[in-house]
Amino acid sequence: ELSLSANASLFYSKEGELTGAQMIFSDVTHLEELEEGIKRAERLASLGVMATGIAHEIKNPLVSIKTFAQLLQEKYNDKDFREQFSSLAIKEVDRINALVEDILVFAKPRGIVWEDVDIKEVIKTTIVLLLPQFPDKKIEIKESVPSEPLIIKGDADRLKQALLNVCINSVQAIDREGVIEVKAEKEDDMVRIAISDNGCGIKKEVLGKIFEPFFTTKGKGTGLGLSIVARIIDEHKGSIKVDSVEGKGTTVFVELPVRQKENQTDELFGTYNRK
Ligand SMILES: Nc1ncnc2c1ncn2[C@@H]1O[C@H](COP(=O)(O)OP(=O)(O)OP(=O)(O)O)[C@@H](O)[C@H]1O
Ligand SMILES: [Mg+2]
Repeated sequence: ELSLSANASLFYSKEGELTGAQMIFSDVTHLEELEEGIKRAERLASLGVMATGIAHEIKNPLVSIKTFAQLLQEKYNDKDFREQFSSLAIKEVDRINALVEDILVFAKPRGIVWEDVDIKEVIKTTIVLLLPQFPDKKIEIKESVPSEPLIIKGDADRLKQALLNVCINSVQAIDREGVIEVKAEKEDDMVRIAISDNGCGIKKEVLGKIFEPFFTTKGKGTGLGLSIVARIIDEHKGSIKVDSVEGKGTTVFVELPVRQKENQTDELFGTYNRK
């Protein structure tokens, strides 16, 4: 299998008459392999970020199953208890199972799955995964969303990953105590999301660099977080902007189109796969 990129241009004379055309094919197989490698690294990095949230989500149901199992011996003859135990155990095991499925889907490379996504649901899951990230900080999370669903065409898992990366930055920007606010609204054909924190803020000099892969000001950061976010928003044909005042806080604005244009094909400029 070979990947070719094709570039075409037309030549005109001074009089505006078409005199010829040129098409250049370049072999981009190696470039694509490199890109795959970067995507793999990004996936692993964000899996690491999510690990704390995931561990917490698995631990909770395990604790309730264990508590009930410990009581089972002495309460074995209590019919109500037995029924409660069996329904709880099944529910909690299902919860862990669904989570493990999610992780497998996330860890495996896969194409974008376009579906109807409710941004309100995405925000809700993001907050659930975010809460265990700061056991020793006092952070209030404010959610401000309209009562009706905010449906867009998109990939729910990727969008959750994007919002989580942004929110984790906010948590990390807050030293001990603070507020993170997640707002979402629909206007015309756009869903607008704004995530603000009253954390340390970003120095003017580095504001232009934060979307670069591997740019980090943190001792333990990989600097991939926001580059992954930018890629996901780009895949959704959306836009992202960051406002920040050092010492005051940061707001990340994300805009996502409600619909994706179908059959987006590049006619003259594109990458062809010859199999
Ligand atoms: N909410 C925020 N408040 C303050 N600084 C921020 C915020 N969001 C991003 N930054 C700055 O942008 C840099 C890049 O962020 P990014 O998420 O890409 O990488 P990281 O958080 O350093 O590492 P990683 O996300 O890979 O763990 C951060 O190191 C930080 O300096
Ligand atoms: Mg980050």
